[in-house]
This record gives sequence, C-alpha cells and structure tokens, in this order.
Amino acid sequence: MNLTNRPRRLRQTPTLRRMVRETSLGVDDMIAPLFIAEGHELVRPIGSMPGHAQRSIDRLADEIDELAELRIPAVLLFGIPAHKDASGTGAWDPNGPVPGAIRAIKQRAPDLMVIADVCMCEYTDHGHCGIINTRYDDLEIATVVGDPPTLVYDPHEPEGALLNDPTLDLLARAAVAYADAGADIVAPSAMMDGQVAAIRAGLDAAGHTNVPIMAYAAKFASAFYGPFREAAESTPQFGDRRTYQMDPANGREALREVALDAAEGADMLMVKPAGPYLDIISAVRARYELPLAAYQVSGEYAMLKAAAQNGWIDERRAALESLIAIKRAGADLIITYYAKQAVRWIAEG
Ligand code: PBG
Repeated sequence: MNLTNRPRRLRQTPTLRRMVRETSLGVDDMIAPLFIAEGHELVRPIGSMPGHAQRSIDRLADEIDELAELRIPAVLLFGIPAHKDASGTGAWDPNGPVPGAIRAIKQRAPDLMVIADVCMCEYTDHGHCGIINTRYDDLEIATVVGDPPTLVYDPHEPEGALLNDPTLDLLARAAVAYADAGADIVAPSAMMDGQVAAIRAGLDAAGHTNVPIMAYAAKFASAFYGPFREAAESTPQFGDRRTYQMDPANGREALREVALDAAEGADMLMVKPAGPYLDIISAVRARYELPLAAYQVSGEYAMLKAAAQNGWIDERRAALESLIAIKRAGADLIITYYAKQAVRWIAEG
C-alpha cells in the first residue's frame, strides 16, 4: 500500500524512538515527601505506603544521605507532633518536628532543598486545616483570644465552620517558623483564601524576602489522600474538607484559584492530585509562566504499589508511565513517593 503517512516509520528502533521522544523524566524533576515524627528512635512504616515511614529526626540520616547521593533536589516535609490542640499551636513551635528536621537536613546535606508544607491539619486535634468556629463557655460573642488568636468564636459563622481569616495568622506564623529554621521554600496547602498573601507578608516582615512560596494552588478534595492521612494522622475527626478543598468536578474554578495565588505572589504553582487532574496541569501550563509542580499523592502511589504487589501490573513501567504523563501534561516538578525508585530506574536505563 502506498500510504503517505506512516507514523510507525519513526518507531522502528529504540534509538529512533529516543530521538523523537518529546518528554523526558529526570532526577531534577523529583521532590520526595518525608514524614517527620516527634520523638526518638522512631521508624514507623506506613502500611498503605510501602517503602515509606514516619521517622524521628535522629533516624533521618540514612534517608537524607540516600536522597543526597541520588541527587534528588528537594524534600517536602510533613510533621507529626506528639501533642495536638484545637488551634494547632504546634505548627509554629520552633522545637517541633519540622523545624528540627529542617535544621538537621540543612546541616547534613546543605544542597538538598528543604520545602516545608504549611498546614494546620497535622497539628489540630480535630484534623482540619485551620481554626474551627467554637462556642467556648466563656466566649459568648465575637471573640478572639491570644496572640496569634487561637480561640475564636464568630457568631456570623455556623459552629464547626472552618474560619478563614483567623487561620491566616497561624499559617503565616508557621511559615515564618520554618523559614527561621532554614527552610528553602514553604508550601502552603491549607486552601484558605488569601493564604499566599498572608504568608508572603509574614515572611517579608520577618526578613525572609528570599524564601519562595510553592503554592498548592489547585488542591482538590480528593479521596486519593487517604493513605497520607494515615501517615500524617490528620484525618478530620468530623465532616470533610469540602468547604475549603476544591470540587473534583471544577476545572475553570481551578484556574481562578491559580490566578489568585499567582496574583498574591506565589513563586511556583502546584496542582494536586496529579494523575486524575492532568487536564488542570495542562491548562495551568498553557496560561502561566511560573514553575509548575504536580503532586502524585499517596493514593496514586498506594494503588500502583497494591497492584504491583499482587502481580497485576509491571510496577516499574506503570510508575514511570504515570510520571511521564504528568511531565507531558506540563509539570516541571513532580512531588512523588516514587522519587527514589524512579531515579534508580531512570539510571538503569
Ligand atoms: C495537608 C496535606 C494533605 C496532603 C498534603 N498536604 C492531606 C489533606 O489535604 O488531607 C496529601 C498528600 C498525599 O495524599 O500524598 N493539608
């Protein structure tokens, strides 16, 4: 047959395929999440995330050495404090797990970029990402107690609502604590309106004008966070996160969220989760010049791992395919629990 167009012509040999490959995956794309537990001599494996564990600061060294040796450029830190309270005051404790881990990592591997996740849900006893409107016995009317305000009752909001503006102070305070400890980048993930502006103002006032903000700009209320909540012990004790995280049905709204974060001074953008939201990644890439990260979340990882452990998929091929798809959609950086494995697989060729 005299077919003019035969796309298969360019698929004939591995080298030819390599020549026409449009997207590549490399070590520089990877960001590895780490869970830092308060305490000593702790390595608690996370059942739903094989290969990952909560670690105390004194048991981080091997992990850091391994990441540094692989030349993975950055880690993203989550803290699991020993004590939680209603307003998550542990989030800005300079002696908490995250500031301690930041100092330890910067000392051991100064070139490894440390990104600190900024959210309240790991630090609040109710597991929500900010202050919950609570009618305290001795607080009858619109009242704010403390500096920063940690006990808040707003009569114009329903009881149990997550209060946006009082939470901003707490997020800014946490971001400053992480920057004070030496964090290279802060990554606000609470999905409060105005959080990027509040954190930028807080950082600048504290002299951290050069600490960039990687904004979880479009973060969806996703069932794929399940394993993370086990890992970070941050499952909401009542309700869900749908009044602050986005409806998975909404693409245009995601672009509005991104526009706000960009206008508020985000230095990098993020879409989360990644795999089920490739259209959002692609749309953000087309409209914004800022570096774009995508978070392949715990549930995406857990699904691949579970299928692989059952022998139902080829883990290496499926994981690398999931990552290249995220790159192809337009992400510059991928936060992934596969970071170390992916770098090894890529090096093997
Ligand atoms: C904190 C936060 C969550 C994740 C990252 N930061 C959980 C959530 O919003 O419930 C999820 C990450 C993952 O699933 O890997 N707000």
